[in-house]
Amino acid sequence: MEKSDLVIRVAGEGGEGIISTGDFISAACARAGLEIYTFKTFPAEIKGGYAMYQVRISANHIHNQGDTFDVFCAFNGEAYELNRHLLTPGTAFVYDGPGGDFEPDLPDGVSAYPIPMSATAKKLGEKRAKNMVALGALSHLFNINEETLIRVLSDKFGKKGEKVLAKNLEAFELGKGFAQALEKKDSWRVADAKEPKDVIIISGNEAVGLGAILGRLDFFSAYPITPATEVAKYVSEHIPKLGGTLIQAEDEIASISQVVGASYAGKRSMTATSGPGLALMSEMIGMSFMSETPALIVDVQRGGPSTGLPTKHEQSDLFLAIHGAHGDAPRIVLSVENVKDCVEMTAEALNLAEKYQTPVILLSDGSLAFSTQTIPTPKADQFEIIQRKRWDGDGEYRRYALTEDLISPMADPGTPGAMHIATGLEHGETGAPRYTPENHETMHRKRIHKIQPLVDEYRPAERDGVEGQATVGIIAWGSTIGVVREAIERLTAAGQKVKALYPKLLWPMPVAQYEAFAAECDQILVPEVNFQGQLSHFLRAETSLKPIPYTICGGLPFTPAMIVAKVEEISK
Ligand code: COA
Repeated sequence: MEKSDLVIRVAGEGGEGIISTGDFISAACARAGLEIYTFKTFPAEIKGGYAMYQVRISANHIHNQGDTFDVFCAFNGEAYELNRHLLTPGTAFVYDGPGGDFEPDLPDGVSAYPIPMSATAKKLGEKRAKNMVALGALSHLFNINEETLIRVLSDKFGKKGEKVLAKNLEAFELGKGFAQALEKKDSWRVADAKEPKDVIIISGNEAVGLGAILGRLDFFSAYPITPATEVAKYVSEHIPKLGGTLIQAEDEIASISQVVGASYAGKRSMTATSGPGLALMSEMIGMSFMSETPALIVDVQRGGPSTGLPTKHEQSDLFLAIHGAHGDAPRIVLSVENVKDCVEMTAEALNLAEKYQTPVILLSDGSLAFSTQTIPTPKADQFEIIQRKRWDGDGEYRRYALTEDLISPMADPGTPGAMHIATGLEHGETGAPRYTPENHETMHRKRIHKIQPLVDEYRPAERDGVEGQATVGIIAWGSTIGVVREAIERLTAAGQKVKALYPKLLWPMPVAQYEAFAAECDQILVPEVNFQGQLSHFLRAETSLKPIPYTICGGLPFTPAMIVAKVEEISK
């Protein structure tokens, strides 16, 4: 199948400017009207360790970062060793040489381009400019828009002083010159610029922040944690414009407590964290559940448990998201597929917290957090704002009145006539503590059943693939969905009878949708980036499905080729 996209991977040591190089390539291509989808992985350390940046570029829509690269640029021997198995005939290889720390041994058919990156940067007296020597060469060899590259690198490095900028611009020109002296041996090139579209280039974390702002967030409190911190950074830059407040709390317990408190005071409130933080928040999530106080918690999943793999990808917080709290405290759990969802579903999650007066957990993940994608520019008027049910001032105020929809009227503290107790203790309709067995049953039923209508109200899980009976049905969640979409395209193009279901509301569980989907499939495959097969576990527990778990947990996402191979394996 003719490739309609180009995948460029840049790798080397953290601190060598790998991420900047990739960001510049992404910006140049996106500003040329092309679609980009980036993936990056780097070590927990600030300096040292293997850092990698991959950008997929296409004139068409792209759902994931691709299987492997077409062009690979290695800054050092470690990057070469970690990727040499992917240097297959037809790929192009740009590497640091002569004067680098390794000499590649390449199979026939790989187009090799030695560029003296380190040696040149050393001669320039600016070692960090090594990456700009590489960028100048990449720009010439693969038709990456030079003018835009110069503009974005000038924007970033200009802030570091004229001298640093001048050295980097010189390094770029030298790198370009080295490339011009080489014979172009491959046909890889970035598609020519198209007319620019009305898009923005944004990372998953920034998109969560944008969604919160468009969802009229009033209050945000968080404690910095990789890979979620950029959400708070983005919100801090924009929430003051809405008259809102952001606090960097002393820890995650304080941040969730401030969120529940601000929400109780009438504010649309949220936090963003990662697995370790979500674990610390579980008691206060129980408080939000028990006191029926709206709260949005965004969990940007990382390799766990404990400190785990802070900068690596995983989808392993589903058990915690759905059940994390003592006692019975089921809450709403949603998961995003891509950067566009990060915007739209964060605003949606704020609405659901307000509507159902309960904690809502929105699951993102490490690969999405740092993934930069082009998305249509969101328009503020496309975002409906749902307000919480408020007391109308009539009659006696009962904060936990047993209403028909089990959702009771809230009243901001200090509202005349609405004095009440909001407590984590079990309580009656007025909020006053009550310990009778009957009351606990009744109030539990209220808190747990009030979110059930969401199963029918929430948009049905999207389907993909063939109509009618399928040999294999795939159920995917989170950013794995984007990988499965491409796998389905390839499998159906090859005549395989496969289909897929992409749930985004994970709890309360849309059981009927899973049952209906499974009835059309001979077998069900559930690919997840966690060890235990966490969604498979819930499917076995809550439905009649007997899914085949397909789990990986190496800190990296699936690739379409992996899904295709697995489906072909179980189809035999
Ligand atoms: N000239 C001058 N400065 C340059 C340069 C050049 N040619 N190329 C890069 N730089 C600067 C960048 O601007 C950046 O500095 P800044 O942060 O002040 O902007 C710095 O060098 C690093 O470059 P960058 O391209 O951003 O990253 P990298 O590829 O060198 O990798 C990281 C460094 C990303 C691995 C490291 O900074 C990091 O963030 N590590 C992870 C930390 C973490 O999250 N740990 C988890 C804790 S639980």
